[in-house]
Amino acid sequence: MKVSLETGSLAELKAEIIVLPIFFQEDAVKVLTKEPGLDKKLGKAMLAAMKTMVAEEFSGKFGQQLWLPCYETGNLKKLCLFGMGKESDLSANCYRKVGAHLARKLGTLPAKTAAKKNLLSMHLILRGAKVGNEFALEAVVEGLILGSFSFSRYKTQKDESKHPEPFYKRVALSVSGDLSKHKLDQAVKKAVSMGTSTNLARELVAEPPSEMTPSRLAQEAKKIAAKADLEVKIMTPGQIEKLGMGALLGVARGAKEEARLITLKYTAPRSKRTIGLIGKGITFDSGGLSLKPAQSMEHMKYDMSGAAACLAAMQIIGELKPKVSVLMVVAATENMPGDNALHPGDVLKSMNGKTIEVNNTDAEGRLILADAITYAIKEGVTEVIDIATLTGAVVTALGRVAAGIMGSQSLVDAVIESGKGCGEKFWQLPLFDEYKEGLRSDIADLKNAGSRGEAGSSSAGMFIKEFTENLPWAHLDVAGVSWLEREKDEWNKGGTGFGARTLSSYVLSQS
Ligand code: BES
Ligand code: ZN
Ligand code: ZN
Repeated sequence: MKVSLETGSLAELKAEIIVLPIFFQEDAVKVLTKEPGLDKKLGKAMLAAMKTMVAEEFSGKFGQQLWLPCYETGNLKKLCLFGMGKESDLSANCYRKVGAHLARKLGTLPAKTAAKKNLLSMHLILRGAKVGNEFALEAVVEGLILGSFSFSRYKTQKDESKHPEPFYKRVALSVSGDLSKHKLDQAVKKAVSMGTSTNLARELVAEPPSEMTPSRLAQEAKKIAAKADLEVKIMTPGQIEKLGMGALLGVARGAKEEARLITLKYTAPRSKRTIGLIGKGITFDSGGLSLKPAQSMEHMKYDMSGAAACLAAMQIIGELKPKVSVLMVVAATENMPGDNALHPGDVLKSMNGKTIEVNNTDAEGRLILADAITYAIKEGVTEVIDIATLTGAVVTALGRVAAGIMGSQSLVDAVIESGKGCGEKFWQLPLFDEYKEGLRSDIADLKNAGSRGEAGSSSAGMFIKEFTENLPWAHLDVAGVSWLEREKDEWNKGGTGFGARTLSSYVLSQS
């Protein structure tokens, strides 16, 4: 989606749709009259007719929309009053939801009335002193893009109730007020990058597992590298073996599809730091010989959501060029029960030399992350953030509302803070030393799974900690939030791309 931006007075602009936010229990009629230029644009008769409707039908509670037709007003076809909830609760996150709700609504309007030839032209009135105009605009644009996501590659019949794909190729936005054009342009650029890349992550997850294999994931990384000017390296099984990644190769043993180690590098000039972003790329998790029951296996194509978030974050990073360097490492393999599969009881030697007794082949994510983290550290990263759909326990603890986060306190705090700005919630879980006892093995340095039903997410975190060599580290368990059964605000049904925006925001916030 291309977004172009104009600023100017309402009277001069040629938008087809005007969006006017109204706070809860605010006098909407008064706002309509007071907004500079709006009365002129609409005409006296229209305004009078609208006033009645507004007074009768509009409370301003969050999410309420009142679409008023406009007649004989030149280009202008519709005025949309958008309920913002209480002004005291306003944040940029509200504006992101506005964008998403608008996109969904526009998607259901017949193409003719909403836009011509895929061009949507819309004028936004930004209101509310609590949120700077550039942040509000950024959030709306991001929301528009996130809310317009759809995936219908495998549908042979189009859904008539939806706007034909691709959703508006171009959005001509205008905003009024006293605003710096440069700041607003930057805001739009950031929003387009964040929104588009999150949608890319969603697409990668939506692809069937027989398509989105480790080698296909590697191809996608190459495409991103070319587009966003990043360095890409792909390792095949022979090279992975030479590196000594016994844990990754162990997991890959039961699969016909070959494993890949995928790295993307962004180099910032004069950066002393290199942030490591490590993603779990299990393109299908059957559980291996510790086979999952059918119900738990149904959506296990989304077990590469951490990898998808990392790839998307790197695309954003390549486009927006932060001040610190970043190395992304994704370990990609299937977890299958093929005839050469790992047995429960097998012992693997990881890249950093530690031996692991595999007591449960379904706890495969931590095994491949261990080697990916070791590789990143050998390549010189100065801090580690891993993101993975790692445990069912985090879904039990936090549902599909917040991701679990654990690790070094200051890094954890910084990631949580970045998440807040993106509308992505994290909740910290503990890493008490006692959890390590559950990972003690009789024959190896540690085993991969603790006792079922006992602090599963912290136990997994504790396992990963063993491979972080005391670097600042944060572990993001996104098993719940990476997949939704129904859409909500800017979140879509299916793979959500959770984490792409938080990770890139964190990197962009560093100097
Ligand atoms: N990929 C799963 C975790 C998962 C569960 C993701 C539900 C999304 C939704 C992971 O590999 C797994 O199976 N973990 C096991 C670990 C256990 C065997 C120690 C789990 O959580 O049950
Ligand atoms: Zn598993
Ligand atoms: Zn898994």
